[in-house]
Amino acid sequence: MNAVVLTRYGSPDVLQLQELAKPEPKDDQVLVKVHATTINDWDWCYVRGKPYIYRLMYGLIKPRLRVLGAEVSGIVEAVGNQVTNFQPGDRVYGDLSEAGLGGFAEYVCAKEDALARMPPGMTFEMAAALPHAAMLALQGLVDVGRIQSGESVLINGAGGGVGMIGVQIAKRFGAEVTGVDRAPKLAMLKSMGFDHVVDYQRDDFTRSGRRYDLILDTRTNRPPSSYLRALEPNGRYVTVGGEVSRLLQALCIGPIVSRFTGKHIRIVALKPNKDLGYVNRMFETNELKVVIDGPYPLIEIPQALQRFGEAKHVGKIVITIAP
Ligand SMILES: NC(=O)c1ccc[n+]([C@@H]2O[C@H](COP(=O)([O-])OP(=O)(O)OC[C@H]3O[C@@H](n4cnc5c(N)ncnc54)[C@H](OP(=O)(O)O)[C@@H]3O)[C@@H](O)[C@H]2O)c1
Repeated sequence: MNAVVLTRYGSPDVLQLQELAKPEPKDDQVLVKVHATTINDWDWCYVRGKPYIYRLMYGLIKPRLRVLGAEVSGIVEAVGNQVTNFQPGDRVYGDLSEAGLGGFAEYVCAKEDALARMPPGMTFEMAAALPHAAMLALQGLVDVGRIQSGESVLINGAGGGVGMIGVQIAKRFGAEVTGVDRAPKLAMLKSMGFDHVVDYQRDDFTRSGRRYDLILDTRTNRPPSSYLRALEPNGRYVTVGGEVSRLLQALCIGPIVSRFTGKHIRIVALKPNKDLGYVNRMFETNELKVVIDGPYPLIEIPQALQRFGEAKHVGKIVITIAP
């Protein structure tokens, strides 16, 4: 099978198209013929081995995984003996970030709990664009952020995958939603349902005097004190990711802050694919839109990754693989 393979850390052009053996499913695995995959922050960091903490986790000198690609959609081609939920021909999608990755290839094997059935009518491109960002948004807003009906919510880094889905989830709760991103993306944010938009290159939302019940952050590039300033009493600040030093600060001072201010600082530890049923229901009731950048062919993954790194994309970068 064709796969885009990582042999060493470096810029995206170290990724090479190679011919690999088609994988065979173990007893508890499903073999998926991949139709679409996406580019995530995860791939960008893994390929470059930066921040260096990635090398501690995934190989000091050489990357341990050769085929990246966390989100996939495709058709089940074969199943292992112990697989009970799927059969050949099923259209499936999922986030393989805890299942060994492997989406940058024509076939991938994954345990069945890393996959869900695609609802009828959903395209492979849309399905691939959903699981990672949708679970971060859902778990950030609902499980950790405890969003309540009619609250004021701000999403920082609103023009990425998490923000695009986050606004649609927040709207289901009747929230008033503000999105923060760069000027060229603000019109698109409005069209996706944000009530208010802020250009981060011009205005600092933590100094505007406005306060929010819930802030969902995909960037975490400020000290916790800045976010606290922008929270209502009892407000919650929830981060899904960002600068490592800022995340460590949030982790350390979060418990102290809640004790003394009544405000909360929390970090989302993603549980991949936990609530894909929720996403399917949103799709079935016509409440789900996805903004796709591309799709690009498998061979253009290095360029697509570079595009991601240079932040030239709008929405989720999707790669189509077959046929
Ligand atoms: N918690 C977990 O378990 C877990 C697991 C996996 C991933 N993650 C994290 O989840 C996040 C993924 O979010 P995503 O997919 O939505 O990211 P994304 O697609 O990269 O989008 C981020 C958005 O933020 C914008 N941005 C850049 N600098 C900004 C600033 N200073 N202020 C406001 N916005 C800014 C970007 O626009 P421009 O760049 O064009 O300016 C982009 O539109 C990442 O931080 C990732 O590390 C967390």
